[in-house]
Amino acid sequence: MSKQDLTPFEQRLLKSVGLLTNLTIVLFVVVVLLLIYIATMTENTYWGAVPDKDQTSASVVKVKDPNGFWEAPSVYGIKEEREKKLVEYGKDIIANTAKYFGPKGSVKPMATNGMNCQNCHLNAGTKTFGNNYSAVASTYPKYRARSGAIENIYKRVNDCFERSLNGLPLDTTSKEMQAVVAYIKFLGKDVKKGEKPKGVGFKDLALLDRACSPENGSKLYEEKCASCHQKNGEGQWNPNQDAFQYPPLWGNNSYNDGAGLYRITNFAKYIKSNMPLGASHDNPILTDEEAWDIAAFVNSQPRPKKDISKDWPKIAEKPMDHPFGPFADAFSESQHKYGPWQAMKKTK
Ligand code: HEC
Ligand code: HEC
Repeated sequence: MSKQDLTPFEQRLLKSVGLLTNLTIVLFVVVVLLLIYIATMTENTYWGAVPDKDQTSASVVKVKDPNGFWEAPSVYGIKEEREKKLVEYGKDIIANTAKYFGPKGSVKPMATNGMNCQNCHLNAGTKTFGNNYSAVASTYPKYRARSGAIENIYKRVNDCFERSLNGLPLDTTSKEMQAVVAYIKFLGKDVKKGEKPKGVGFKDLALLDRACSPENGSKLYEEKCASCHQKNGEGQWNPNQDAFQYPPLWGNNSYNDGAGLYRITNFAKYIKSNMPLGASHDNPILTDEEAWDIAAFVNSQPRPKKDISKDWPKIAEKPMDHPFGPFADAFSESQHKYGPWQAMKKTK
């Protein structure tokens, strides 16, 4: 029977069937491709998951970072309910410090400048080279030259409250301090005593062979930072005025001159791997020179002062870029603050 023998109706039917068949094939291919795509996207987190009724999806077995960088353990892995609550509270205090201690803080209002710990310890202290907490549990208590004493984790946490948050220290026995320390210890639980995992703190940055330039930094700041941190450097509050949407880099609500970020090396390293927002150690946005010059500019702007007369009791232990004398060598205060530092390193 040839096509001509069919009635026009049958011919149209045949055509429709052909069309439908083609459509089905195309749909099938699309679905298969989609499935393959989903499978590869979720491979790292869901492949090889151990089915367990108690577990939520976030606690499935994770494949280790292929580059060996430290990865934070998941809070969902904590079995004991009270411990889990405490660690989660600690994490929230790190991420949303202002909610508890900021201008309208629920625990103690006005106890800080309104910043969050997370502003500088990114992703609640878990980001690779984002000033993470991976080595705190493994290295404290330890001797610190700034205080000239052995410091425990409580002391170190309060250091950042009093300097970076320009605020009041927490009572060691308070629930909030217990929670913060529980969280920091939890993060470092798999790191061996005395060891520092890959990706801890800041990534090293080669020194310039000239002094860092606040003048260059000023122009760069306007281009690359002012859109969020504002031209006046004072950041931007959220609409409720109870926390910062963009934290300040100088002015009354910024870190004080006794803070770690006030040292230009720390600032330059922090922004090289983390700023403008979206940058990372393997995908930096600033050149080395830009990072150094912006650091010099920001740390030349006005900020709160701290009485640091008791810091660095042994002046020979001051870091080369500590901005305040007296020094154990003959280099000027300005060269200590802005560099060049090469010659200083050779003398030590
Ligand atoms: C303005 C930035 C900034 C803020 C905000 C900040 N910190 Fe820090 N913090 C630093 C810097 C910089 C260092 C490293 C200093 C150094 O090594 O000289 C540091 C170090 C630490 C360390 C020691 C880390 C280690 O591996 O030795 C702890 C613990 C810590 N901060 C806790 C906190 C807590 C808790 C808060 C909130 C109350 C906080 N920080 C807020 C900048 C900040
Ligand atoms: C797109 C907005 C954006 C831009 C652009 C940006 N930042 Fe930030 N910056 C942020 C946010 C948001 C945070 C807080 C991050 C957090 O809490 O997770 C932050 C945090 C910081 C901090 C630590 C907290 C503080 O206030 O001291 C520094 C230092 C900083 N930025 C410097 C810079 C510099 C320098 C530039 C320009 C090279 C820059 N940022 C560009 C949004 C931005």
